[in-house]
Amino acid sequence: MSVPIYQTSTFAFPSAEEGAERFAGRSDGPIYTRLGNPTSQALEEAVASLENGCGAVATATGMAAVTTVLLALLRQGDHVIGTRPLYGATAQMITDRLSRFGIDSTFVAATDASEVQRALRPETRLIYIETPANPNMDLADIAAIASIARGAGIPLVVDNTFAGPHLQRPIEFGADVVLHSMTKSLNGHSDVVAGAVVAAVWMTVSAPTFLAELMLDSALAAGLYRRLDSADEGHWFRTAIKRTGWLFVCVMLGFALVGALMQTYAPHATSIGEVIRHYLVNQ
Ligand SMILES: Cc1ncc(COP(=O)(O)O)c(C=O)c1O
Repeated sequence: MSVPIYQTSTFAFPSAEEGAERFAGRSDGPIYTRLGNPTSQALEEAVASLENGCGAVATATGMAAVTTVLLALLRQGDHVIGTRPLYGATAQMITDRLSRFGIDSTFVAATDASEVQRALRPETRLIYIETPANPNMDLADIAAIASIARGAGIPLVVDNTFAGPHLQRPIEFGADVVLHSMTKSLNGHSDVVAGAVVAAVWMTVSAPTFLAELMLDSALAAGLYRRLDSADEGHWFRTAIKRTGWLFVCVMLGFALVGALMQTYAPHATSIGEVIRHYLVNQ
């Protein structure tokens, strides 16, 4: 079954009263595509369910997802801990861009959770990890870092682009927010650029607010990027934050294929791992 493509910016309301209800947030119907669209919503529900989350926001690119989460969760004077390595544009976003807004950062080795613990400061508001990490596949212990985040009362954000939800669901290990460049394995066809942010089930009290804030921030961020967009700005500033239509339907078509592909890849990856383990044990 295919999801209909709602290729529209604006929606008609059955009555002025219903329009007023929607704008007041008392009715769920769509208003304006940047804020919500049934096609985007179908993708958001699918990715939230794959990640075992309570809800998701789909974005135009993976970097739009990264930027939206950082802008939604951090304020001036905050400190963020990131693991090393991170995807280059994400690391650059944190060090070169967030620093302009008075947000400090510390990067620690992904492979040593105790370094995350040591890097905590009273003003630390977020731990951001990527595992396996781009580009060298370093692994972080999600459960160990989630328990450090919980102890500090701050959220753990995991970029799950590389493994994808078919192989790893960070929320099940304690992550609060999971994000994706769906451009990669989730779409699986190399024909779409897209991203997603998923919130964890146990954020039920705060998650609806968090997701609503993400929607708002993504709307605000789109305006911010337009203002900042100049020849010398990074490539993500030229990216619209929200997108919908047939591109999102393509991503959903990819979900089914990726599951099948993973079943083919996984035994090969396990065999290669076994050969490497055998070599390491016997050398
Ligand atoms: C781990 C990771 N996160 C985020 C991104 C950014 O995604 P996009 O290219 O869809 O903006 C990438 C892109 O390569 C990535 O590898």
